[in-house]
Amino acid sequence: MTDRRILSFGSLNYDHVYEMDHFTEPKETQSSLSYIRNFGGKGLNQSIALAKAGTAVFHAGRVGSDGQDFIDYLNRYNVATDYLLKDNNQATGHAIIEICKGQNRIILHGGANQAIDEKQIDEVLSHFNNDDVLLIQNEISNLSCLINKAHNKGMYIVFNVAPMNEKVFSYPLDKVDMFIVNEIEAAGLAKCLSNEIETIIETLKSEFPDKEIVLTVGENGSYYICGEELIHQDAYMVEAIDTTAAGDTFTGFFLASYLQNHCVKAALDLAARASSITVQGKGAAQSIPDIAQL
Ligand code: RIB
Repeated sequence: MTDRRILSFGSLNYDHVYEMDHFTEPKETQSSLSYIRNFGGKGLNQSIALAKAGTAVFHAGRVGSDGQDFIDYLNRYNVATDYLLKDNNQATGHAIIEICKGQNRIILHGGANQAIDEKQIDEVLSHFNNDDVLLIQNEISNLSCLINKAHNKGMYIVFNVAPMNEKVFSYPLDKVDMFIVNEIEAAGLAKCLSNEIETIIETLKSEFPDKEIVLTVGENGSYYICGEELIHQDAYMVEAIDTTAAGDTFTGFFLASYLQNHCVKAALDLAARASSITVQGKGAAQSIPDIAQL
């Protein structure tokens, strides 16, 4: 068990999931094969993954007046929700997810996730100190403020750069300790025009020589990069039904294992096994396995 407390400050969404015959084209109307509403959001998924990997985690974030369902859901998996704010003036965030042949397309509406302000950040961070870890993704507002304040406290900052967009370059990235990215996010972050994985890794190394970087590359496994250190882990090959939350599972299980002082290779292996199970189930948080299943 790690003594460091983990604060996962991130998004919570209702995921509206539509199974499709094919991804809807411009000007096309098509009926879905099925519909279900799940709990999701990269922040919530990663908190659940950390908890299912056996780590204590606090989830901070913001939901609308209907947010009690999220609190109950997180509590069911032993995620602490003391710092989750219910905001009657906002709608809970949501995602529209099309699933087709194991792949997905996601439209996000931030809602309450985009109403996180400096006041909330100050209140939450007042409960944490320099031994603690902050995990963030790119689905909430005021990330620059959060990164700056957590860094000033001496917290160790892990940034899963998802989704990658131009806003990321306005954040104080020099204050992040670890990046977790897939190959698309990595290329965007490193401003690398090539899609060759070797070139992406070299560019990441030269752009962020003093950062820890965890890079997932689908069927080609994952890498840990830190200066000249490069560790590779193969992927576990399975048939994917729904890849939603595979990256979130990887992030949660890697971090849980790494912070429990297991070696990087063991942490990558655990994360690869966990996400290979997630892709074999439908939905986001609900498809994340329990440590006992691994
Ligand atoms: O990573 C998957 C998640 O991305 C979904 O649960 C959806 O809510 C979006 O945030």
